[in-house]
Amino acid sequence: MIQTLEWTDNGVRFIDQTKLPTKETYVTCETHEQVADVIRTMVVRGAPAIGVAAAMGIALGVKNSKAETVADLKRELDQICDIIGKTRPTAVNLFWAIRRMQEKFERVRIRPLAQIKQDLIEESKRMYAEDIAANQAMGRHGATLMPSEGGVLTHCNAGALATAGYGTALGVIRAAVEQGKKIHVYADETRPFLQGSRLTAWELMKDGIPTTVISDNMAGAVMKQGKIGAIVVGADRIAANGDVANKIGTYTVAILAKEHGIPFYVAAPISTVDLECPDGGSIPIEQRNAKEITHIAGRQMTPEGVSIENPAFDVTPAKYVTAIITERGIARAPYEESLHSLASTETKVEV
Ligand code: MRU
Repeated sequence: MIQTLEWTDNGVRFIDQTKLPTKETYVTCETHEQVADVIRTMVVRGAPAIGVAAAMGIALGVKNSKAETVADLKRELDQICDIIGKTRPTAVNLFWAIRRMQEKFERVRIRPLAQIKQDLIEESKRMYAEDIAANQAMGRHGATLMPSEGGVLTHCNAGALATAGYGTALGVIRAAVEQGKKIHVYADETRPFLQGSRLTAWELMKDGIPTTVISDNMAGAVMKQGKIGAIVVGADRIAANGDVANKIGTYTVAILAKEHGIPFYVAAPISTVDLECPDGGSIPIEQRNAKEITHIAGRQMTPEGVSIENPAFDVTPAKYVTAIITERGIARAPYEESLHSLASTETKVEV
C-alpha cells in the first residue's frame, strides 16, 4: 500500500514525491514550518493530500506549542495557520483544512490545554481516514461511468499519492478494475513537473493496472485513433458553476475530448467544491518558478533570459465537463444546482 503521509510519534511522515519514481524515500517533519516547506516544494502535492498535510501540520504546531493559556495557544494557532495557508493558493482543500482545524479548536477550547492538543491531533487523523473513505465512495460512484474495456486517459496525478490513499480519478479507475473492467490507462506525462509519467505511472504499475505514458501533445492523436473511451481527472478547486481548476493542460484535454465525443469526468471530494467562488475566473492560479520550465533534470533547455510563464493550473469551463464524481454522488449540469445540493447534503461518508 502507498503511504503518502501519516501521523507518527516523531512527526508527520511523507513519501518524497520529488524523488519518485526512481527513489522511494521518506521525510519526517518535526515542526509545522517543515510541513509548510514540504507542501511548498511539492514533496507532498495533490489537493486532498495537501489538505490532510495542512491539518497534520497544524496539529503538529499546536502539539509543539509552549503556550500556557488558551488565549496564547489560539494566537499561536493563528500564526501556524497563516504560515501553512501561504504555501499553495489554488488547492482549496488547504483552506478547507485550516478552517476545519480552527473550528475544532473553537469547539474544544474550554478543555485543558493537553486535551485541546490531543483533540486537534485526533481531528487531523479523522480527516485522513475520511479522505480515504471519500475516495473509495467516489470510486464506487465513478466506476459505473467507466467503459467495460478500453482506454481511459488521465492528466497529472490524482491518485493515492495526491490523497491520503486510493485516489480520486485513479480511485475511480481502481474501483472499475476491481469490478472486473479491463481498463488500459493513458497517462499524460504532465509537463513541467511530470506528475503523470513519474507518479501516476508509478502507482498504477504497483497495482498492475496496464498503463501507457504519452507526452501531453499526443493526447489529441490517441483520441483520434479511437483509443480513449473516457477521461477522468482530479481537481484543485471547483467553482459553484462547475468550472474546474486542475493541473495545467487539463483545459486542452477537455476541449480535445469534446471534439472527439469522449466523456470528460472530474473526480473530487466535496471539500474541493468552493461555493464561495462563483466561477473559474475567481479561482487564484498559482504561478510557479520558471526553473521548472527552463530546466530538465538540472540541464538548461531554454536560452538564457527568455521570458517564461509557469501557471500550475488552468480552468476548464463547466460546459466541457460531462459529470463531477464526488463521494456523495454524481453531479451533472446545471452544476449550480447539483453541486449546491450535494454540498448541503448532511450525509457523511462512514470511515
Ligand atoms: O501541482 P499539483 O501536483 O499539486 O497538482 C495536482 C493536481 O492538479 C491534481 O489533479 C489535483 O490536485 C487533484 S488530486 C486528487
